[in-house]
Amino acid sequence: MESPLVVASNRGPISFDVGEDGELIERRGSGGLVTALSDVFLRDDITWISSAMTDADVGVAQEGRELMVEPGLRARFVLIPEERYGAYYNRIANQILWFAHHCLWDIARSPRFDDDTKHDWRAFVDVNRAFAQTLDQEEDEPVFLVQDYHLCLVPEMLRDLRPDAKIVHFSHTPFAAPMYLRVLPVEMRTAIVRGMAGADIIGFQSRAWGENFLLSAQGLAGVHVDQRRGRVDLDGRRAFVRTFPVAVNAGSLRGTAARPDLKATAKEIASWRGDRSMLLRVDRLEPSKNILRGFLAFELFLSRYPAWQGRVKFLVLLSPSREDLDEYRTYGEECLAQAKRINGEFGDDTWEPIDVRVQEDYEYAVAAYSNYDALIVNPVYDGMNLVAMEGPLVNRRQGVLILSRNAGAYGRLGKHALPVNPFDLSETADAILQALEMPPDERARRARGLSRSVQAHTPATWLTDQLEAVDAVRPPMIGR
Ligand code: G6P
Repeated sequence: MESPLVVASNRGPISFDVGEDGELIERRGSGGLVTALSDVFLRDDITWISSAMTDADVGVAQEGRELMVEPGLRARFVLIPEERYGAYYNRIANQILWFAHHCLWDIARSPRFDDDTKHDWRAFVDVNRAFAQTLDQEEDEPVFLVQDYHLCLVPEMLRDLRPDAKIVHFSHTPFAAPMYLRVLPVEMRTAIVRGMAGADIIGFQSRAWGENFLLSAQGLAGVHVDQRRGRVDLDGRRAFVRTFPVAVNAGSLRGTAARPDLKATAKEIASWRGDRSMLLRVDRLEPSKNILRGFLAFELFLSRYPAWQGRVKFLVLLSPSREDLDEYRTYGEECLAQAKRINGEFGDDTWEPIDVRVQEDYEYAVAAYSNYDALIVNPVYDGMNLVAMEGPLVNRRQGVLILSRNAGAYGRLGKHALPVNPFDLSETADAILQALEMPPDERARRARGLSRSVQAHTPATWLTDQLEAVDAVRPPMIGR
């Protein structure tokens, strides 16, 4: 019999708000992790444990209600006091760990760690412990699937509570190279690496991130690393580093795109585009996505190749993200200001070069996918990047993918995409030109290659590969 699964992540598959009349409104969770995982867990024995993020979630958690997201998928919230949650999620996870793993600091000036950081870190440790304790309440012998940097300390804590537990930790993000991880206070850096190494399997989206982890582990006292075999030995135990790239569910995405309402939206977007070419970007509005340099590269393209002025429209769909934090808000404002400036310089009454929409509307993005001639995905660093995989599945114009070499998706899609160094505006401007002027037969060939490469992997294998990996190091007991 298959082991039951217990998933732990900060953001869960379900969240609540209170409506105007006091009624509970149920929302599906959003973001890369939930999108990627929701398609995977179509089994009948899953418990998904996540933070209570809204006041309504807290209410639901206090009532101790069991939530069925779908048949076979139970959800539970971990209750975290508000002040502690702010320190754990906003300050440590989003301001520090996100920035570390995506190399986002302006390193000559920031970060600066002080006593407040120490205080926030203690809250982070407490929240991770609360998760570990909640997981420990689960009966039977499940496989624990712990997700992402928010919960990087959970594997070691759970191991202490349950030495024989089967634990997988999976990072949806990159993992910082050792030199950059060393920016973190030593206590934090050591705890992160040791914490993750409490798992049996430490999973990453791409080999490069796993290698970074191993290099950092190698520097720690009492830890022995076999880089080639991806093994970490510590505290008399062994953990294995493995790669499990996430995949998108082609059938369900295409099903969504084929809905009559989305087809109608796609038609509206086609008439908005008219006989011009269309460049598209779809992202969360946050600094790792490199939206600002994307605009500057587009500006350079327009000034370097003026024949394209008036002949291309850049549709930019951005979903708001982590707006409570200055770094994210200021970055968003800067992006919008640059787009406005570029429109002022190049546009006129008949043509607005960049059309930015800040909206949480996944379905609109899916409708836009069908229409682009070129899709730009140029993150500074990205664990995987689902947009790069979703676009080619739905696009109907043999659109070209411009893809950062620093996105995890590059490993799978790079040879069919136009590669860019995300910091190189000149190369990116030329890639835009090359994409828009590519001859039809080459476009068709690359589009076919992209679509095939995306479909070569399914969300189900992402999960089964992890379960097989954990069984390979801890075989299931027969006869239970
Ligand atoms: C990335 C992380 C996910 C996270 C998502 C959205 O994809 O890897 O763990 O869910 O961003 O971020 P948020 O802070 O809104 O949950």
